[in-house]
Amino acid sequence: MTEKAVDTLTKAEAQEELARLADYLSRANTAYHAEDAPEISDADYDAAKQRNAAIEAQFPDLKRADSPSDQVGAAPAEGFSKITHVVRMMSLANAFDDEDITEFDDRVRSYLNLGPDAPLAFTAEPKIDGLSLSLRYEGGKLVSAATRGDGAVGENVTANALTIDDIPETLTDAPDVLEVRGEVYMSHEDFAALNARQTERGGKTFANPRNAAAGSLRQLDAEITRSRPLRFFAYAWGDLSAPLADTQYDAIQRLQSLGFQTNPLTRLCKSPAEMLDHYRRIEAQRATLGYDIDGVVYKVNDLALQQRLGSRSTTPRWALAHKFPAELAWTHLEAIDIQVGRTGALSPVARLTPVTVGGVVVSNATLHNEDYIAGRDSRGEDIRGGKDIRIGDWVQVYRAGDVIPKVADVDLTKRLDDAQPYEFPTECPECGSPAIREPGDSVRRCTGGVICPAQAVERLKHFVSRAAFDIDGLGAKQVETFYNDGWIKEPADIFTLRDRYGSGLQTLKNREGWGEKSATKLFEAIEDKRIIPLARLLFALGIRHVGESSSALIAAHYGTWDALEQGLVDAAEPGPAREDLTGIDGVGEVMATSLTAAFSNPAERASIDRLIAHLTVQDAQQIAVTDSPVAGKIVVFTGTLEKMTRAEAKAQAERLGAKVSGSVSAKTDLLVAGPGAGSKAKKAAELGIETLDEDGWIALIGA
Ligand code: IVH
Repeated sequence: MTEKAVDTLTKAEAQEELARLADYLSRANTAYHAEDAPEISDADYDAAKQRNAAIEAQFPDLKRADSPSDQVGAAPAEGFSKITHVVRMMSLANAFDDEDITEFDDRVRSYLNLGPDAPLAFTAEPKIDGLSLSLRYEGGKLVSAATRGDGAVGENVTANALTIDDIPETLTDAPDVLEVRGEVYMSHEDFAALNARQTERGGKTFANPRNAAAGSLRQLDAEITRSRPLRFFAYAWGDLSAPLADTQYDAIQRLQSLGFQTNPLTRLCKSPAEMLDHYRRIEAQRATLGYDIDGVVYKVNDLALQQRLGSRSTTPRWALAHKFPAELAWTHLEAIDIQVGRTGALSPVARLTPVTVGGVVVSNATLHNEDYIAGRDSRGEDIRGGKDIRIGDWVQVYRAGDVIPKVADVDLTKRLDDAQPYEFPTECPECGSPAIREPGDSVRRCTGGVICPAQAVERLKHFVSRAAFDIDGLGAKQVETFYNDGWIKEPADIFTLRDRYGSGLQTLKNREGWGEKSATKLFEAIEDKRIIPLARLLFALGIRHVGESSSALIAAHYGTWDALEQGLVDAAEPGPAREDLTGIDGVGEVMATSLTAAFSNPAERASIDRLIAHLTVQDAQQIAVTDSPVAGKIVVFTGTLEKMTRAEAKAQAERLGAKVSGSVSAKTDLLVAGPGAGSKAKKAAELGIETLDEDGWIALIGA
């Protein structure tokens, strides 16, 4: 679609465009969160968010109540500046078969007029699945960092690059001008941890490590990039004032001695046979490298020959990317099992005849939800060409990064005549309670709550987990066994375990796998946790949507268990208590409803009350009272801050004793509004709340 420049939009066009973008971005978010494949690329997502913010900045009064800018992870208001690459950033020609490699060697020889026996060496190294970055050093100092963009012009991400540990800020003994090129990527481990954090915050999760790296680097707020663990491998260069070496291999060594990370699997190969050998060696290690690679890159070693070979329009003649075959495999779908999670979600899991996919044996794959099995996405549109999945089918499975295997396709020619469409259960397979789908929810959930054994066990596992009660000697396995034997049915039972099984006929120490010492240790570990911080307790309750960091915020807001309990009971109805709850930064309507529902459900309340009777709850740290004029005040930030990031402003305000809230209510004392402020500024004006711009705020706090 061709888009009009923002500053040429009429007001009516801007309004229409904001509505379109809100819809577009909300659909993109749904596609992400409904666990289907993302519908648009990260770059398109970011571009739409940036355009939305730019229009809002131009027409502040048109900002919508559901503006995408106000959602978690919202992109700030302006785009990146552009950098024209002095030396174009090239792409690579691809090859898929062994013969392509011999042909590449032949092609290079023929171009250079080298006979078949003349020596011709190549480097071979992994092709990292990330995004390329060009770092320009002048006088040994990093002066700019740019993404590839279209190869000619990239985005200026200098501030972001400086937050990456693998990227040196200064170099010693480097050429006066040196552009180092390489790949920004995220390790599997960091990717999984980032997605876990994002899920907990209700933020956007990423489909694979490459998207996560791209989304993290292309943040207008470098502080967000800093909080994302990105890495960088150097493998090439651009503009140079003096050559790095005579060969590709030595140039890479030189980059390494300058302080860059270079890939340890880089080898010098003297023939196509050696190149293929190294390709197989790398392929064999692929699953255990800890980061994604999608092939092997071969480069002519002699830099003078590289120079002679030159480039086609977008790819050099001296390099080739030998891609790995897609990680796909066909296998038999033996059964579909339904797992019931802590919050009652019914998750279908494919049980497969074990098959090797990209070096890893796969025997389970996620089937997401009933729509996915039926061949529909979250909007009711066809996926897999509308083919449904039936037990007994031949299915094609794939792995993307370290993400759980998924079913890519179904072979209808192998479907048995009597195969029946899968009927998704409408009753919980664990407790028989109705399993219902709420409007707009792609997940069917068991309504059994605490009476559902699967939910009860999962809740108990969560209750004893590291970030919750973290009881030494009582992990997921032990809790499950105790539950199955009827020793622990709910969290409160943990604290009566010693009374019931410390002595008498049936004792813990006499159980298989236990002894006097381990039993005593467990009882002591449980005693230790009778005193528990409020935030941990709230998180341990396992209320849907309430993660570790939200628990900390909510606990800090109410301070004591009594205040929290009363606050959540009162917040079930619209009114000041509800506004107080949703005014906590990071608590939206969905989380608020989940919290109040848990505290007003009689069975859940009774279970919580039984637990509390055994505990001493430590008050959350109340926000420090200082003599700053903002101490004790409720402050809301809106619009774009130009001198500091939102996170910085928030932390600073909290240090001075203010409470920072995400929405304006009658309780708000002060609104700090930057450019682009919309509905919040309007509401504050209506309520007569004092409003300052960023400079006013800085003056007030004396920063
Ligand atoms: S060399 C002129 N080496 O692959 C050649 N590229 O598909 C410059 N890539 O845009 C690239 N690992 O982002 C080179 N070891 C490697 C690489 C690599 C990943 C990326 C790079 C490039 C893309 C082309």
